[in-house]
Amino acid sequence: MQRDLVSSEMHGSLRVRVPAKINLSLAVGPPRPDGFHNLATVFQALSLYDTVTLRDRADGAGVRLTISGSQANQVPVDEKNLAWQAAELAAEQTTSKPDLDIDIEKGIPVAGGMAGGSADAAAVLLGCSALWDIDEDLAPLAAQLGSDVPFALVGGTAVGQGRGEQVASAMTRGKFHWVLALSDGELATPKVYAEIDRLRGDQPVLEPVIAEDVVRAVRTGDATALGAALTNDLQPAALSLMPALAALLELGPEHGALGSIISGSGPTCAFLVSDEEAALELTVALSASGLCRTVRQASAPVPGATVVSRDTPI
Ligand code: C5P
Repeated sequence: MQRDLVSSEMHGSLRVRVPAKINLSLAVGPPRPDGFHNLATVFQALSLYDTVTLRDRADGAGVRLTISGSQANQVPVDEKNLAWQAAELAAEQTTSKPDLDIDIEKGIPVAGGMAGGSADAAAVLLGCSALWDIDEDLAPLAAQLGSDVPFALVGGTAVGQGRGEQVASAMTRGKFHWVLALSDGELATPKVYAEIDRLRGDQPVLEPVIAEDVVRAVRTGDATALGAALTNDLQPAALSLMPALAALLELGPEHGALGSIISGSGPTCAFLVSDEEAALELTVALSASGLCRTVRQASAPVPGATVVSRDTPI
């Protein structure tokens, strides 16, 4: 709470690295009165990162946001960006207004269903708390910003409940290898949730439960079992809105993937493979297919948002 001490002569800066996520399982309940859906999910953080640099600005200068990297031009650089809102929320925990440069280098696919915007918000929360000596618990602030923001703080592998914001770390063994196929076009998360409700119609929908086979597979490091257990209730809705993804998913088993799944609300398709060699083979096949824009490889789990460098004046 000592932010009042930060004057224009005492500017600090720091850099935070934050990972992308996928949902290894995602069970979606019926719509709640507040419009959200209860979830039971297993998140995993992957080695695709955004790097967020924060620099204090002179008193009264306000927030300035710049974005670089692939598809940066699709990301808003004003208060619509969750990272900007995170800076405002962090400043509310102090007595000052936010005077901050936020520079985001995108390594997480933009609008891909890998929670890149939520990751940036988590990075700003963590960074501001370090820069401004905020000693609040960040998890409730993160939850206020979005359902996926708390997980980006925690990383690793975790069980998520509520609307996704109640996160508990899960035990894991070993390293999992992923191939991600990124598509052109966007699947807006609210539209995908609306589509699952539409597809379900009047069918009774049970409260979601955690996929125990997924939890067991990550705990024992069994990639074959995990591949068979991957599940996403949003997948039929994403496929209904973007049917071309079906052909892309089918390439996985044809080229050695242990499992294929749409990541979150899509449109990124995630393929679990046994090792780096298998990742390379599948990458070549997906790239040659012409069915996706680009292909990336990642390993998991990795830690959540982390301060990687800091430059604080004395
Ligand atoms: O929390 P977040 O801002 O990421 O949610 C974006 C939208 O996704 C919500 O407005 C809602 O339409 C949908 N959503 C949902 N149930 C959840 C999470 C998100 O219906 N558990």
